Amino acid sequence: MKIVLNHKCNLKKEEFLSYFRKLNEMKTNHEMVLCPSFIYLSMCDSSKLLLGSQDVGSYDCGAHTGDIAAAQLKSIGVDYAIVGHSERRLNHNEDDGLICEKINLLLKDEIVPILCIGETKEERAQGQIHRKIERQLQALNGLEQRKRDKIIIAYEPVWAIGTGEIPEVFEIDEVLAYIREKYPKNILLYGGSANEKNICNLKTSKYIEGYLLGGLSLSPEKLQIFLELC
Ligand code: PGA
Repeated sequence: MKIVLNHKCNLKKEEFLSYFRKLNEMKTNHEMVLCPSFIYLSMCDSSKLLLGSQDVGSYDCGAHTGDIAAAQLKSIGVDYAIVGHSERRLNHNEDDGLICEKINLLLKDEIVPILCIGETKEERAQGQIHRKIERQLQALNGLEQRKRDKIIIAYEPVWAIGTGEIPEVFEIDEVLAYIREKYPKNILLYGGSANEKNICNLKTSKYIEGYLLGGLSLSPEKLQIFLELC
């Protein structure tokens, strides 16, 4: 399984270093992609972990104050990047067009985009899940098939993120089956309150090939239990 650890905006330097030591001591056969805050990326020297960023700037290198370009990330060993996380879409008004541009920039520098998609509670109540997913997946239209197949798609219902609530597994599978039909080669992840308590249930899914973990990723102890169970 591919396990993506999304730290979001958490951990001060000493906390991060202590966490990183513990993470490196963990024993697992799962493939872990660590996505810490940008400022810690270049401190992550590990043969056990893959490195991911939580976002990427929407420009190439140049006069773009405050941005971080895909080429810069690649130059410090970043191989994955989360794009289109619902917190970016909401807090920074990122739309599908911008996300598409970021995907193109990442692919140009051979960084694997992890595209997050998912419906809000209201959209779910209105029976709009498939419509929303379909719209967000349009960010992949127009990409050469060879490049498109490399993108990891993370289904993250917005209402499940950080709430402790998760959909029924058959509901997750309905969405993932729908994505799988259109994108047969892409790796599919689930994200949104996945933890050491619900992993045995999530594990019954026919389609989940890995997890995007937020809150859980910050606790090495709980993460270890999760990894053993999944
Ligand atoms: P969560 O976050 O595991 O805390 O729900 C997942 C995410 O936002 O990627």
